[in-house]
Amino acid sequence: MALDSHKLMNKMEQRSLFTAEDKTLLQSHADWGREIAPDMAEKFYDYLGRDEEMNAILTEKEGRIHRLRETFIEWFAEMFTGMDNWGGDYADRRWRIGLIHVRIGIDPQHVVPAMATVVREAEKRLIAESKPSELKESLSKICMIDLAFIEQAYVEVSSAAVLRETGWTERLFRRLISTGADSM
Ligand code: HEM
Repeated sequence: MALDSHKLMNKMEQRSLFTAEDKTLLQSHADWGREIAPDMAEKFYDYLGRDEEMNAILTEKEGRIHRLRETFIEWFAEMFTGMDNWGGDYADRRWRIGLIHVRIGIDPQHVVPAMATVVREAEKRLIAESKPSELKESLSKICMIDLAFIEQAYVEVSSAAVLRETGWTERLFRRLISTGADSM
């Protein structure tokens, strides 16, 4: 069940209708993306800090918030540059971010509304600065692709752990999940 992050990236581009036009538009606003990234980081960590559970995770280790601000700024700017034109490096980086969140125990219930906050705050800036509405669309698409990477990491990590511990086949595991879902 090992996931190929490059293949996932290709699939997500297709499924999200993330086109060459989206890429060009994002890249042509890369300076703007970097310029607003620190403010987006502020808004993001303000939002996380207002939630009791997420605030506890953020403040658990010294220096964590500071480190996170820096990595968030990089992450946000990379959505505009695409790093290597949304290729293998981009996919690997997104996959790693997903794995880190799984390791820390940050659930989808935290991540999904957090990504919605990014989209909402970015949209406010886009409107305030009269940026093209297509840019909002392109940015939303890449945010959703990044979100899919984090979400997929949960499934992959938990499935791989169960298969490793039990020696079950993937087929048996999938059947047990379907049966379990039926009985809920
Ligand atoms: C939109 C969703 C999110 C994005 C884009 C995001 C982005 C990132 C990035 C880029 C990193 C650094 C990964 C690395 O070191 O390579 C990171 C780590 C981390 N994130 Fe998130 N994050 C998101 C949601 C959350 C949420 C909801 C929490 C909940 C508190 C959270 C807490 C953390 C923590 C604790 C770390 C590890 C920090 C450390 O000790 O180095 N993240 N995140």
